[in-house]
Amino acid sequence: MKRSPFRPSFGTNPPLIAGRDAIVAEIGDALDSGPGAPGRAALFTGNRGIGKTVMLNEAEAQARERSWLVVSETATRGLLDRLTTEALPELAAQLRQGPARRRRISGVSLPANLGGIEFDLPPAEGPGGLRSQLNAITEQLEPHGTGLLLTLDEVHSRQGRDDVAQLCAVVQHAFREERPLAFAAAGLPAAVQDLLTSDVSTFLRRARRFVLEPLSEVASEEALRVPVTQAGRRIGEEALRTAAEATYGYPFLIQLVGDQMWRQDPGSRSITVEHVRAGIRAARREVGFSVHEPALNDLSEVDRDFVKAMAEDVGESSIAQVAERLGRDHGYVSRYRSRLIVAGIIEPTRRGYVDFTIPYMREFVRANLERL
Ligand SMILES: Nc1ncnc2c1ncn2[C@@H]1O[C@H](COP(=O)(O)OP(=O)(O)OP(=O)(O)O)[C@@H](O)[C@H]1O
Ligand SMILES: [Mg+2]
Repeated sequence: MKRSPFRPSFGTNPPLIAGRDAIVAEIGDALDSGPGAPGRAALFTGNRGIGKTVMLNEAEAQARERSWLVVSETATRGLLDRLTTEALPELAAQLRQGPARRRRISGVSLPANLGGIEFDLPPAEGPGGLRSQLNAITEQLEPHGTGLLLTLDEVHSRQGRDDVAQLCAVVQHAFREERPLAFAAAGLPAAVQDLLTSDVSTFLRRARRFVLEPLSEVASEEALRVPVTQAGRRIGEEALRTAAEATYGYPFLIQLVGDQMWRQDPGSRSITVEHVRAGIRAARREVGFSVHEPALNDLSEVDRDFVKAMAEDVGESSIAQVAERLGRDHGYVSRYRSRLIVAGIIEPTRRGYVDFTIPYMREFVRANLERL
């Protein structure tokens, strides 16, 4: 019996990263091109489960391939403290050590050929702490022809906002001084937009923006077929097409559907249309529990009422009609509309209309009206 190659969990790299080659190549080019290349500051935006964290992982892989150092962080409370008292000092300690004695710690990594460098890291304290530490490290790296990539996930987080602003200011200085530093961040589209229009950072506003869209049909099929065949099983054309269609190109669903169709009969040689159909049903249940329910639980009651009113429609919902169903005026409903957009639950489709961002959410809401 063969193990499923699919990885239906957030932040975990899939067996095949489909449909993102052009973006990955651009990030690689930016690292090769030296300071000033636009992709040296990259901002990935996209809905939940579209593959933002995986793209940060990929940027890190591109950096490591080029013997760059990597620090990967999340924009939660205490970000600056963690950088100046943990991540950067650890990096410095590793640079001083020879490769053999190096200890692996999470979030920080160093290429094997670097090490044994003599230098002192400036103290973390004081307003200039982060800046002088980054300067000290990049100065050590420059003669080796490498640099430092800093990745920042969940950049839109409210708790991290002040720290993100300060970090961006420091990174911007380093860019101006043409230091070997690269920066990649990721977040939900509307929340990031919110962040960009607040005066947090002109730097982030100028970053190369990668809007991650659902995968094309061809890429979705590839993302399902290649892992299956590489893991030693087969899947026919009709089964593959049925599976890919059910994912709407949404990467998290690709992994879920892939995993579930695999699990129907892992001992059999081929994945059949029947396996796929059963797998889709299981994946839809699973996406309900692991994505829709937690996302909806984070909402206020009124937000949820808005969502329930929307679920009555077959496709996109007219705001005017939602207002009517809720018995509220347009202004009232507009406020909740904006909040749900920032939360990444719905998105505007055209003037006066919105739709759900994540596949099968409407069906989930309909099926769980009482519980929500
Ligand atoms: N290009 C891709 N091809 C196939 N699968 C992918 C691709 N990108 C991401 N995935 C898979 O999709 C799922 C979600 O990816 P990821 O965690 O990166 O999403 P995210 O956008 O960071 O989500 P969130 O907003 O919740 O943090 C994971 O299971 C991952 O393996
Ligand atoms: Mg993520």
